[in-house]
Amino acid sequence: MPGLNIGIPKHVAIIMDGNGRWANQRGQSRAIGHRAGLKVVRKIVRAASEKGILALTLYAFSSENWNRPETEVSALMALFIYALNREVKRLHQNNIKLRIIGDISRFNQQLQKMIYQAQSLTENNTGLVLNIAANYGGHWDILQATKKLIAQIEDNQLSLAQLDEAVFQKQLCLADLPDVDLVIRTGGECRISNFLVWQIAYAELYFIETLWPDFDESAFMQAIEVFQSRERRFGNIKEQS
Ligand code: IPE
Ligand code: IPE
Ligand code: MG
Repeated sequence: MPGLNIGIPKHVAIIMDGNGRWANQRGQSRAIGHRAGLKVVRKIVRAASEKGILALTLYAFSSENWNRPETEVSALMALFIYALNREVKRLHQNNIKLRIIGDISRFNQQLQKMIYQAQSLTENNTGLVLNIAANYGGHWDILQATKKLIAQIEDNQLSLAQLDEAVFQKQLCLADLPDVDLVIRTGGECRISNFLVWQIAYAELYFIETLWPDFDESAFMQAIEVFQSRERRFGNIKEQS
């Protein structure tokens, strides 16, 4: 059928939501929910890598998540350190390139160091690009790009006339990757919650009720099938797309 997405998406982004509710339903702490969520991350990374998806971008911690109770924020930071310690070698063996996007400077020194080491270990890998959004906000991303561009203009390296969408996009996170094709959000909320903004301008959006710890490979494949059945027009009309 003309216009349908026969291929798999090149770039998938996921808002992994619902860990807290999953734990509440079981009378357990939210930290237990986040730990269960990490197991699902492992499965979905493997599935994306095996499927030949070019890039997977996962929303792990938003710039607003600092507002949560200190116990939960600490549990999430500890889990982040635990995951980096445990998983980076395996990611490297699987030829996965790991990157953390977001304002890293707010993390403690130990975590920042681990992030830089993990990124440099895997930077030449040629398989799946795995981006973990941590202390990320779509607003922050646009603002940090704007500040870099203003600095370039002030330095006379760039003129206002040269500033177009392509030049702007180069300063954003994920600039070297194709725009997101598919955004999946688990947990039932139908919002973006300050995840990627610019990069999802033409993404297909897929919201499901399933809580993140209950998400699995088959639910992931189902999302990809739905994506493949959508008709992307990019402002064009059906006959031309
Ligand atoms: C998403 O799950 C994970 C993070 C935000 C770190 P939540 O913790 O938001 O879970 P719910 O939405 O409260 O169920
Ligand atoms: C979005 O989930 C952030 C992550 C999944 C990391 P939230 O649970 O923080 O979003 P809201 O508060 O429901 O919008
Ligand atoms: Mg939530």
